[in-house]
Amino acid sequence: MDTMMLKGASSSNKAAVDARTMVAHVLAAAATVLVLLWCVHFRGGLALRSQNNKMLIFNLHPVLMLIGPIVLAGEAILCYRSLPLTRDARKKAHLALHAAGLAVGGLGIYAVFKFHVESGIPNLYSLHSWIGIATISLYAFQWAAAFLTFFFPGASAATRRRTLPWHAVFGLLLFALAVGTAQLGFLEKLTFMQGPPMRMPKYAPEALLVNFTAIVVLLLGVAVVLATVTVDGTRYNTIM
Ligand code: HEM
Ligand code: HEM
Repeated sequence: MDTMMLKGASSSNKAAVDARTMVAHVLAAAATVLVLLWCVHFRGGLALRSQNNKMLIFNLHPVLMLIGPIVLAGEAILCYRSLPLTRDARKKAHLALHAAGLAVGGLGIYAVFKFHVESGIPNLYSLHSWIGIATISLYAFQWAAAFLTFFFPGASAATRRRTLPWHAVFGLLLFALAVGTAQLGFLEKLTFMQGPPMRMPKYAPEALLVNFTAIVVLLLGVAVVLATVTVDGTRYNTIM
């Protein structure tokens, strides 16, 4: 996989990349609308403070985790290919969109911890929460390491050349991890809602909406990865 190859690609390749990027933008917009529809319309809305309905604080969590480390991070990854700007401007957009993704994600984690503390629920007991904490920590680490290496103060040209492919691969792996964490989160919340005391019916419209949102998020993950990687046609010649 050569993630850097498309810069000099032919115009037909460029059209294919543009089409794949567009699919990712549409799925990102759809996922945002669906998660808002769920949390605002079905779950009663969003709030960082609430005396009598702590669930409103929880509701911020899925919304912010989807908009931050998934939608904004996806747009940051795509921006090298989707923005008609100079390379330097795209680099700043990439950096800033990831910073926004990280900040929104940090607020989403804060909201769910606040919800747990105020409702007397223990912290960090589930697989989702363990993988979630790892994901957001690695995301912060990747951002800081990339900032120091590629932006300020910046490493030597040789170090930047050597580390950039690893940055791109780890960046995509992290993005996939965020998508996987969100899948676990949707499943866990739906399991809570279908158990006591709510006992939501298995095929309730809201249950279908949550599952459908998770599928759109999964497809968004696939679209971002497919728009970013380049399949190297020379790699498997030896076994033909
Ligand atoms: C990148 C995406 C996400 C990350 C990094 C993440 C991270 C976390 C973390 C660290 C916790 C533990 C908080 C604590 O122990 O106090 C948590 C809790 C929770 N999250 Fe997420 N989350 C993400 C997306 C989602 C989504 C989309 C949902 C969908 C509803 C969700 C549902 C939940 C639920 C139900 C809990 C409470 C139960 C538990 O602690 O496992 N999460 N999340
Ligand atoms: C957690 C945050 C970050 C993630 C997940 C991430 C992820 C990625 C990915 C997946 C690529 C490959 C894009 C492509 O091939 O089209 C990439 C490229 C790049 N990233 Fe990041 N990145 C992050 C933060 C940063 C920061 C803070 C900088 C600092 C300037 C940076 C600098 C770059 C550069 C210079 C490229 C190469 C672009 C090119 O010339 O094609 N990244 N990043």
